[in-house]
Amino acid sequence: MNILHIDCSPRPDSHSRRLSAAVVEKLLTMLPGAPISRRDLGFEPIPHAGAAYAAALATPASLAAAGRSADALQLAEQLIDEVERADVIVIGTPMNNFTVPSVLKAWIDQILRVERTMKSTPAGKIGMLRDRPVFVGIASGGVFAGDRANQPDFLRPYLTAVLGCIGFNTVHYLPLQGTSFIDEAHADEVRRSLIATIEPSMLSLVPSLV
Ligand SMILES: Cc1cc2nc3c(=O)[nH]c(=O)nc-3n(C[C@H](O)[C@H](O)[C@H](O)COP(=O)(O)O)c2cc1C
Repeated sequence: MNILHIDCSPRPDSHSRRLSAAVVEKLLTMLPGAPISRRDLGFEPIPHAGAAYAAALATPASLAAAGRSADALQLAEQLIDEVERADVIVIGTPMNNFTVPSVLKAWIDQILRVERTMKSTPAGKIGMLRDRPVFVGIASGGVFAGDRANQPDFLRPYLTAVLGCIGFNTVHYLPLQGTSFIDEAHADEVRRSLIATIEPSMLSLVPSLV
């Protein structure tokens, strides 16, 4: 039983950090004592996919030749290992220019790999990892969801597609919107109401609870 807690904001005093921390706190009331692993992409960004990694992934032959133990795949293997060991994943992320920040994209580029976390078939990509709940706390300066949305949302559809590719189809989004114009008290209230939507049934895939 393990919760992987990922943060993406570069700001210490961050709405998405507070939100993801509150999600973890709520999950711990349902999964008491569960160990937490941390991956802080905001404070310790991982490098973007480099030349050696791109060369390894270029063709099925180069991938097969590299093998899992290749230096070029070391970081990817470490990050995939963290994901595989997690029974629940919590991501706190800002919305940047209608989608995920580049630090989260850099992580995604290491996690999705043909013949490791997904299969490429004529019908599309099929996940190789077992499904598990993923909670995504999003902080956005403006509004991208609901009746007052006035900007595109490429974040949720994109993450849903990416996570679905590797087999994670149980994604719960918790959007804390309008951070550029709501005050702290309002943000606290929204955060509390988002946390209140997390129910034990959302953890039905967690092995120890099945
Ligand atoms: C580079 C950059 C791009 C941003 N793009 C958007 C955007 O497309 N839509 C939006 O609503 N807010 C946008 N914002 C505002 C952030 O989403 C908002 O400040 C959010 O609260 C940041 O998350 P944090 O509080 O966890 O750091 C952007 C901020 C930055 C720095």
